[in-house]
Amino acid sequence: MTTDNRQLINRLKEQQSLTKPEWIQLISGRTPELAEYLFLLAREERHRYYGHDVYVRGLIEFTNYCRNDCFYCGIRKSNGKAVRYRLDEEEILSCCQNGYRLGFRTFVLQGGEDAYFTDEKLVHILRSIKKLYPDCAITLSVGERSYDSFKRLFDAGADRYLLRHETCNASHYSRLHPPSLRASTRQQCLWDLKEIGYQVGTGFMTGSPYQTAEHLAEDMLFIKKLNPHMVGIGPFIVHHDTPFADKCSGTLELTLFMLGLLRLMLPKVLLPATTALGTIDSKGRELGILAGANVVMPNLSPVNVRKDYSLYDNKICTGDEAAECRKCLEKRMESIGYRIVTARGDSLNV
Ligand code: 5AD
Ligand code: FES
Repeated sequence: MTTDNRQLINRLKEQQSLTKPEWIQLISGRTPELAEYLFLLAREERHRYYGHDVYVRGLIEFTNYCRNDCFYCGIRKSNGKAVRYRLDEEEILSCCQNGYRLGFRTFVLQGGEDAYFTDEKLVHILRSIKKLYPDCAITLSVGERSYDSFKRLFDAGADRYLLRHETCNASHYSRLHPPSLRASTRQQCLWDLKEIGYQVGTGFMTGSPYQTAEHLAEDMLFIKKLNPHMVGIGPFIVHHDTPFADKCSGTLELTLFMLGLLRLMLPKVLLPATTALGTIDSKGRELGILAGANVVMPNLSPVNVRKDYSLYDNKICTGDEAAECRKCLEKRMESIGYRIVTARGDSLNV
């Protein structure tokens, strides 16, 4: 079995694709030895295109109001215990100013689906950031919107958009979300974003409730077809005030394995070692980089609101000691022989 799976990994590296049964075999047949072999090849590919550089994106979590009710998420509408906040334009610009001084050249504006932030308001914010920092890339991550809305935001200066497809399989999707949300709508948004001209990021949670190797195989096939610029994955982590309070969190092991597979399938893609990965294991982000990831996204939000952007339990970087995530990550990356670079860090996967 292990030799077979080694051959599958070799073939994935050669051809950058596998069939659905092959993905299932590889994912469900994974072992620690196989993972080591995978990470070795994944690092080779990553070094070929991106060297030992790690790109940084300054994450600004600007609203935790959300009209959606995803069963896994701590800021879902029905969570009456969530302490809600919004940053105004001035506060967002001050995060950018701080970030620019620290060397960030990409700002990620992430938030719940908050109707307060109309196209008009977001357009104003985007224009202001672009005017002050024309050399920076702006990434939006504000959920599902109409084609027209995506287009207006793009025209106002948004360069990139992150929208995880969460899980490609429609019936699995319906076990994680209320009926108002559909896998097909989600996926259509991603195709719209690509057509408009955004650099697009998608992704999924590893170990989400009811997830099987077959679902993960379908995720890989969908991502291959979409051919995004970035893929964000991280373990599902329980949040105590959600319907999934009694479920099990995903694992470091599965997440790292999927990172390695993604690197071989899309060698030039941007692959973040996410905060969720750093949350389930204190060395999670370092291990993510060693499995093929090449991006980290330190938190630039004001320290006093960080604890309220609580998608899952025990999220790192929410205490006062985390004011300087940039420095912390610099040290962490250096400790494993990588270096943070202050460039826009555009994807080579075009
Ligand atoms: N655990 C891990 N990731 C989560 N997300 C939302 N809730 C959780 C959770 N409980 C992820 C989703 C979403 C992204 C912003 O955060 O994949 O797209
Ligand atoms: Fe935020 Fe280390 S990266 S505290």
